[in-house]
Amino acid sequence: MRRSRCTAVTLLLSAICALRQLGALAEIIDASELPHVDSCNYCYECVPMRPPAADTTREAAARMRLNHLRRLSQLQSGDLADGQTTAVAVGPEAIQDAAWANEPDPVYEAAAAVSGIPGALTNPNLVHPELIQPLDHDEKQLKPNCTRCTGCTTVLTDMHAEAIEAEGLEGIAFMHGKGATNGWLFFGNVAGSSKRYIVKVYCMPYSKLHGRPQACASRVYMERMRLMMAQVRLADECGATGITPRVWIAPVNAIIPNGTYLGYHVRWYGLWMEEAPGITLHGLFVTHGAAKVMFDLLTTKINTTQVIQQTVLDLLTAQCDRHSENVFITPSGSLTFIDNDRALGVVTRCGSDSMLLPGNRYHTQLRLGYWGPLMTFYETHGSKPNFCTGPIDMRVVMDYRCYVPDGRIDRNYYPEMRSCMKALARHAVVDIMHRYGFTSRKPAEILKRRSIDMLLMGFEGALAASPPRSAPRYVFQQQPPCCNIVMDINDSPKCANCWKPIIEPQKDSVKDMDSKAVDVLVEPGA
Ligand SMILES: Nc1ncnc2c1ncn2[C@@H]1O[C@H](COP(=O)(O)OP(=O)(O)O)[C@@H](O)[C@H]1O
Ligand SMILES: *[C@@H]1O[C@H](CO)[C@@H](O)[C@H](O)[C@H]1NC(C)=O
Ligand SMILES: *[C@@H]1O[C@H](CO)[C@@H](O)[C@H](O)[C@H]1NC(C)=O
Ligand SMILES: *[C@@H]1O[C@H](CO)[C@@H](O)[C@H](O)[C@H]1NC(C)=O
Repeated sequence: MRRSRCTAVTLLLSAICALRQLGALAEIIDASELPHVDSCNYCYECVPMRPPAADTTREAAARMRLNHLRRLSQLQSGDLADGQTTAVAVGPEAIQDAAWANEPDPVYEAAAAVSGIPGALTNPNLVHPELIQPLDHDEKQLKPNCTRCTGCTTVLTDMHAEAIEAEGLEGIAFMHGKGATNGWLFFGNVAGSSKRYIVKVYCMPYSKLHGRPQACASRVYMERMRLMMAQVRLADECGATGITPRVWIAPVNAIIPNGTYLGYHVRWYGLWMEEAPGITLHGLFVTHGAAKVMFDLLTTKINTTQVIQQTVLDLLTAQCDRHSENVFITPSGSLTFIDNDRALGVVTRCGSDSMLLPGNRYHTQLRLGYWGPLMTFYETHGSKPNFCTGPIDMRVVMDYRCYVPDGRIDRNYYPEMRSCMKALARHAVVDIMHRYGFTSRKPAEILKRRSIDMLLMGFEGALAASPPRSAPRYVFQQQPPCCNIVMDINDSPKCANCWKPIIEPQKDSVKDMDSKAVDVLVEPGA
């Protein structure tokens, strides 16, 4: 249209037309002639299309979700009209405190509005298995492959293409891990926006590792996603907003940017995460020449309030995967803890496994040097009469016992932490389920039981006794704290005080004789 009009005008004007075509308009004109990505099977280059600004409202999110479900499944439209009907049955008891159970999270809603992610869901009860997987796999393959197309409203890029240089930590770069689970990880942008998120796409029909076709346990992933949303909300309510990256379940409409499946059209909901700023403690540890920076961060800059907050949260949520690859630190010492999906009962017979909790496997591993040469050193020298101190991993100073009076929290929780635990302790399991979007009783029971125990027994008492309890292979004696580090003449860290670990063998192969044991967390009607 525009092109033919241009050819009809005067010489002067046609020159302007040509310029306009080369500029901003060229994209629009080109794109309008391209096939829509929906009409392609693979598309090797998808010209992005900026979603309408109105798509970031709550109403738009509800409409998009409904449209998606209608389009992708034969489900009758009425069935999925609102959150109440999709929320999984909450057991025989009536909701006791419906107002509390249905209360939206205001922090989440405000953050969703500014996130700019179209269709982002803030109510976990709306996250449904049909949303997070392709349901038109066979039909899609009947469509032609396109070399170029348009219609993508999300732009995915390879997260592993280059090293990340954290702002303010120039010269120290790190690579993101590939991730162990089945989700495919990317950087993701809303088309036309420069704000970068980390997007995890579950239910790709091909395996990330070997490319073979794979089925999707979409119900399991839905639960993982909801679990992460619940923990963000919990952090908000316990006065620790921002300690974990905010996550949303939102539409992804993009092509795979690279590799074997380049051009594959992702057209279902994924997990959008805020990107944790800084670098992981593990990344710092393995970077040559970063020892001084790491020493400064861990011994002077580190936000000890956040360490205490996350320590309490790790026990409260029965966190079972807190190791130093999941801990980010910024140049100013601010901490973010990622990857919270192995918590609240997901790992069987694990009450907690965190580098922040004394007696946990990860806590002991750090102090025994993963049973390598460090332990050999302490075995050899530790019992000599003049022994005082030896080499140590400087990450051990990240220990709440170093930051609280007498090395004990006991019942001295931060006020917001106490009030969130009080609310959990006092509400019915069914209400907790509904408020946080859990589909089974277990995570709600864990939160309720841990809250009661942590309030009554104090932190250390609950750490020692509150169910769920871990299988023996996760349980160690509490190592003594080492709260100050000095660098020796070879620039290797030592504990500044006399410090000697309690030597225990690695227990990874210890069989759990009690594997059928089930902790009673709360009474059935509680
Ligand atoms: N929200 C996030 N912010 C920053 N980096 C992240 C975030 N989520 C994941 N990553 C990076 O991606 C890597 C793998 O992600 P992860 O969620 O641990 O995958 P998986 O659960 O499959 O193991 C992490 O080690 C980290 O480097
Ligand atoms: C389209 O591309 C995919 C992936 O490269 C391939 O498997 C498929 O056979 C192609 N389809 C057609 C019709 O060429
Ligand atoms: C694309 O993916 C391949 C592996 O499939 C990888 O080797 C390469 O570095 C990637 N390139 C870019 C630019 O992301
Ligand atoms: C440490 O974190 C807490 C909780 O997020 C925050 O309120 C405080 O300002 C931080 N302290 C510093 C010194 O940045």
